Amino acid sequence: MRRSTKSGQHKGRPKRSAPSGGTPNLWVGTALPGLEDLLKGELDRRFKDHVTHVPHSKGGECHFVFGGRSRALLSLRLCHVLSLRRDFRVARPRTLLSPEHLAAIVSDLKTVMEVTPAEKFTGLRLDAAGSDSPTMQRLGSQIAEKLSLPFANDTGDLVLALRPGETGWEVLSRVGARPLGTRAWRKVNYRGSLSGTVAAALVELSRPAPGDRFLNLMCGSGSILIERLKWGRAKIMVGVDNIPQALDASKHNSTAAGLRDRIKLLRADTRALPFAEASFDRLCADLPWGQSIGTREPNISLYRDTFAEAHRICRRGGKFVVLTQDHRSLDALEGVVERGWRLLGERSFAQRGFRSRCRVYERSD
Ligand SMILES: C[S@@+](CC[C@H](N)C(=O)[O-])C[C@H]1O[C@@H](n2cnc3c(N)ncnc32)[C@H](O)[C@@H]1O
Repeated sequence: MRRSTKSGQHKGRPKRSAPSGGTPNLWVGTALPGLEDLLKGELDRRFKDHVTHVPHSKGGECHFVFGGRSRALLSLRLCHVLSLRRDFRVARPRTLLSPEHLAAIVSDLKTVMEVTPAEKFTGLRLDAAGSDSPTMQRLGSQIAEKLSLPFANDTGDLVLALRPGETGWEVLSRVGARPLGTRAWRKVNYRGSLSGTVAAALVELSRPAPGDRFLNLMCGSGSILIERLKWGRAKIMVGVDNIPQALDASKHNSTAAGLRDRIKLLRADTRALPFAEASFDRLCADLPWGQSIGTREPNISLYRDTFAEAHRICRRGGKFVVLTQDHRSLDALEGVVERGWRLLGERSFAQRGFRSRCRVYERSD
């Protein structure tokens, strides 16, 4: 494999060679397909002098060589799963049973286990097509034995993924006993809540700034509010929902995140809000979308009236980020929205089996 610069130009071979093929310190961060550019942007912003991107054909993934302390990567907000990658120039997984290749895989697994030293892993799990085959079973048992862990192919939380790559097989050792995108602050599983990484993506799309007066309309369990404050400072943080259970969930989650005292939560209807004109710089809404929350017919008028109220309380030039899976209600806004908002961008991505659409608006008048 050749390395490439941030501009994508090849720089030749890596200086150090790994014990068994591949590039040392080559990491893979996964995002939802459609959001990978945001993860790439986070890597560049946070670790610009330590990251060299490596092109890869798989969607939803960022491959990069990292020259900093591995533990720093744990703070990535937009990465769902983080793994250490090693490439083996072998045609079949059976060849990975050679002592040299086994030693390299075990060494990588030890490296990722050291990234989260407090975690106690319960067993090794292989994530691979045909992971029940005799070859994979032998591979799993031998690796697990060298790590003094059970080989628990159904329940293990130390995950080793094997897949065909461009020049042989890619072996990915996952960091953590849970995916990196799992948030410790999530104490209440609220119906329709966003994953932490998607909430972080919405925050990113709002183009946050430290002086923000930020409002999360229809805040539910507080995912967006928490991820906004994990991004950095804000002048004012307000979450609004009209259901007490949602506000309770927000309270529990923001307390677990250590952010309760920095968020004001308010029970109100987003169609008639108790805020003065131009009170906010950034607004964000994960709109109710029919299948699990409410029905579609009221959504059309709910969306329209919420947009009108958002327009009143957003300052001119302020941003409004919306997410929904109710495409019909979103499309019905055209004409209404055009008069006061400029569409800055739209993207679509698959989330829990549904296709979500996200739009970013700027208040234009
Ligand atoms: C998709 S959920 C938001 C989930 C949230 N992003 C999370 O991660 O937990 C939509 C929320 O909109 C709220 N909602 C629906 N209609 C509303 C209205 N008219 N005013 C305020 N909140 C409303 C619901 O109570 C629900 O909590």
